[in-house]
Amino acid sequence: MHLSTLLLCLCWGALVGASDGSDWCYTGCEHTPAHWSSISGAFCGGTKQSPINIVTSHAVTDDKLHNFTLVNFSSQHALKSLTNNGHTVKCILEENEVEVKGGGLNATYSSLQFHFHWGDTDHHPGSEHMIDGHRYPMEMHIVSLKKGLTVQQAIADPEGIAVLGFFINATEDGATSQTWDNFTSYLMNISAKDSMVSISHSISIDDLIGDVDLTKFYRYMGSLTTPTCNEAVVWTVFQEPIKVSKNLIKRFPMKTMLSNVYRPTQALNGRHVYASPAIPPSPGHAWCYDDHCAYSPAHWHLLPESHCGGARQSPINIEKKYVVEDQRLDDFTYTKFDDKHAMKYITNTGHTVKAVLKDGMVEVSGGGLGYVYSTLQFHFHWGSTTDGSEGSEHAVDSKKYPMEMHIVNMRKDLTLAEAKVTPTGLAVLGFFIEAADDHKGHGGGSESQEEGSTSNSDHWKKFTSYLSAIQNISSKVEVTEEISIDDLLGDVDRTEYYRYNGSLTTPTCNEAVVWTVFKNPIKMDKDLMKMFPRHAGYHDVYRPQQPLHSRKIYTTAASSAPGPVMMFLLLACFCALSV
Ligand SMILES: *[C@@H]1O[C@H](CO)[C@@H](O)[C@H](O)[C@H]1NC(C)=O
Ligand SMILES: *[C@@H]1O[C@H](CO)[C@@H](O)[C@H](O)[C@H]1NC(C)=O
Ligand SMILES: *[C@@H]1O[C@H](CO)[C@@H](O)[C@H](O)[C@H]1NC(C)=O
Ligand SMILES: *[C@@H]1O[C@H](CO)[C@@H](O)[C@H](O)[C@H]1NC(C)=O
Ligand SMILES: *[C@@H]1O[C@H](CO)[C@@H](O)[C@H](O)[C@H]1NC(C)=O
Ligand SMILES: *[C@@H]1O[C@H](CO)[C@@H](O)[C@H](O)[C@H]1NC(C)=O
Ligand SMILES: *[C@@H]1O[C@H](CO)[C@@H](O)[C@H](O)[C@H]1NC(C)=O
Ligand SMILES: [Zn+2]
Ligand SMILES: [Zn+2]
Repeated sequence: MHLSTLLLCLCWGALVGASDGSDWCYTGCEHTPAHWSSISGAFCGGTKQSPINIVTSHAVTDDKLHNFTLVNFSSQHALKSLTNNGHTVKCILEENEVEVKGGGLNATYSSLQFHFHWGDTDHHPGSEHMIDGHRYPMEMHIVSLKKGLTVQQAIADPEGIAVLGFFINATEDGATSQTWDNFTSYLMNISAKDSMVSISHSISIDDLIGDVDLTKFYRYMGSLTTPTCNEAVVWTVFQEPIKVSKNLIKRFPMKTMLSNVYRPTQALNGRHVYASPAIPPSPGHAWCYDDHCAYSPAHWHLLPESHCGGARQSPINIEKKYVVEDQRLDDFTYTKFDDKHAMKYITNTGHTVKAVLKDGMVEVSGGGLGYVYSTLQFHFHWGSTTDGSEGSEHAVDSKKYPMEMHIVNMRKDLTLAEAKVTPTGLAVLGFFIEAADDHKGHGGGSESQEEGSTSNSDHWKKFTSYLSAIQNISSKVEVTEEISIDDLLGDVDRTEYYRYNGSLTTPTCNEAVVWTVFKNPIKMDKDLMKMFPRHAGYHDVYRPQQPLHSRKIYTTAASSAPGPVMMFLLLACFCALSV
């Protein structure tokens, strides 16, 4: 078969030979879309089918989706003929003239044809893809085969075919484009099935696309949207619609007698939809720690009002050899850390478990902070339910811990809005959490250590018993039992810590945090640690470590040697003064 003849009869259905695909339709025959899966030799019942509804807040930004290179889209003689194949209207392109590459595609694709999907004359919309449940009046598909492959080879390759999908939106009458008027004027010559008309006007694909921003698009792997529905298509769906006047859109159903020529949307079945970085943040602006949402940690900087791309971000890896001693880092003063009724409620935020404290009650000062801070809440970062999982945010000499607890404090002289834009506005006390030695009979452990971890464990048992009540995201539970922050911290040494200037570790990552990371970890039973991922319903809730850039990390002065001397001097001073 001569190639041009092949191209003439090449339509979605006939891509693999006419026999099986020819007896399908959108309405009025045995094989309507709901029954395409029973067409023999077809893949319409597969798990990677097209079209789909694109949920913009679930689209994952992919930096590799940069600009397309569209070769000869501006050519005035690439459009050869228009044909009505009984399912759609298809424009055949000149051979080896138009190409598509870039845009995150792995190969160069040769464009063969473009065709349309539409609704009916009563303005029922007929795009195939939907955006957040919205169906546009029409959709245009530019179909290209991976260069060098035959049709047979391309439909057997999961990325053998690239389709560029453009929505078409209806504009009010009057804003008629001459290009679309000329183009749609050919529809009157192809009202009969299998009729064909040569295109004599000078029309380029660019003229048809108009001012659509080609840097804004969605990408997913799918299928042909007509039988035999081969799962061989790299889909590109542009966000901005082409604008065509209502009257011209109406010509498609009117002149061809074909209406509602679109396939219903298909299940995503776990596939991901990616968005090019040029797409502005969606109002849902969902962020998460993995890549199953619009904004994974690598894309937090694209969120509205985000500081996540800044130069003093947290968490960091603390490299001991670069840490500098600072004599000003003295002991903290804790107010009401021992209050057993300071906790208001515990909530599951969808990103962490957070204990919110009563207003204006708990405070922290000293520790070289220079201000009095009000304690607002504490929350946790964790890994998975697997033994040995590392879910802390900070690390010391690259050692991560199973969990990390953050006690968040705000400068007392500021409002929250002010604190978030002040470099010292917030102070976070970070405690690593490590597994308590739960093998009781295990030799070597001193008696006092065992006692310590047992009593601490009772408080954590009490605290974690609330987790089963907040399995639903946004749910909260009131704390009725007596439990203080000191109870949870136990006897962990709070005199030795690291200090650096950083940020919140969740969006919007404001660079307003004076960080304190205590050297000695809290101990918690392994089984209690596992209750965090198990009950919250998510795991690995920690941000990857951020570059230090030019920041310095300070540490409390080595305590053992100067300690007694300091104490002696202090006592001497005190005595001198008081006597
Ligand atoms: C991509 O397109 C944008 C807008 O048209 C342009 O500013 C940018 O330079 C292009 N980038 C590349 C790599 O071509
Ligand atoms: C683009 O069009 C020109 C003019 O028709 C043609 O010579 C050239 O081969 C085309 N480019 C490609 C890559 O097909
Ligand atoms: C490009 O190739 C990679 C690696 O084989 C594959 O994972 C990816 O899906 C391909 N992307 C496209 C758009 O074909
Ligand atoms: C589509 O057109 C309608 C009416 O002409 C307009 O209200 C709507 O904003 C347009 N949508 C887009 C995304 O351009
Ligand atoms: C298309 O149809 C119109 C009206 O019937 C006719 O005047 C015109 O010559 C036709 N054009 C072609 C290219 O056949
Ligand atoms: C969680 O939500 C479901 C459905 O919304 C509800 O049936 C269930 O009782 C809730 N569970 C808790 C612990 O609140
Ligand atoms: C943090 O930044 C402030 C200035 O905003 C500076 O005075 C202070 O020394 C810095 N602290 C550390 C630990 O780098
Ligand atoms: Zn199509
Ligand atoms: Zn935190």
